[in-house]
Amino acid sequence: MEKIAICSAKGGVGKTTIAYSLAMKYHKAGKKIGLLDADIYGPNLINLFAYTNPNQNAHNSKITPAKLPYLIDGIEFSSTDLLFNPDDAAMLRGPMLSKILIELYKKSFSADLDYLFIDMPPGTGDAYITVFKDLNIKKAVLVYVDDPLCIADLKRTIKMLDLLRVDVVAAIENLAESEQTITNDEIMTLDVNKTLTIPRIARHELYNKYLRTGKLEKLLPETL
Ligand SMILES: Nc1ncnc2c1ncn2[C@@H]1O[C@H](COP(=O)(O)OP(=O)(O)OP(=O)(O)O)[C@@H](O)[C@H]1O
Ligand SMILES: [Mg+2]
Repeated sequence: MEKIAICSAKGGVGKTTIAYSLAMKYHKAGKKIGLLDADIYGPNLINLFAYTNPNQNAHNSKITPAKLPYLIDGIEFSSTDLLFNPDDAAMLRGPMLSKILIELYKKSFSADLDYLFIDMPPGTGDAYITVFKDLNIKKAVLVYVDDPLCIADLKRTIKMLDLLRVDVVAAIENLAESEQTITNDEIMTLDVNKTLTIPRIARHELYNKYLRTGKLEKLLPETL
């Protein structure tokens, strides 16, 4: 099984969107896919599926935790969104976050998956240490945008992955304004065999066309 975390220290660069699209692409190609939402503080991967969480708007006493993994659109999916009221804020300290993440991972997925994609939160903190050290994940897809603030965070992500001996299997520039991938020094130092660019897409097109009809998937690598 290939286990690949979709990462960036910077928030809002497209990790979740890309994790979902990778999962859908490889599922449609006949692979058996698992998708873990490791963003415990902001679990919103479920919103990309055409699926309504039965616990949405439910009063806390009426929450029925789903049996994980939950099979949605043929993908084994696991998220705290399926265990708790998705409208509640997860007010957890690091050790508790790590414990939940390990439980989600260990209890959830079939052993015969072809790929497990992990949608990471932003940052370089507890979730990253848990996933890359405790769960021993050794591959990552980096997502970034061409922006000085993001590049500053990208450097930190790259240093962290290096320290944790994680291979970057692809680096994706998202929300790009031109088709030319930026020749960023940090990216150039990486031994990445796949670099690619995804353009900024108008909001209505992103959901109606690119995500629902798989147009975004076509921009992603055939294998990782
Ligand atoms: N290529 C794109 N073109 C236009 N909008 C995009 C593109 N990729 C992502 N978005 C939008 O940007 C926003 C952030 O995307 P997303 O939630 O996937 O990022 P993220 O890195 O997972 O964020 P977070 O760090 O909060 O988890 C979303 O509203 C998403 O729809
Ligand atoms: Mg996200």
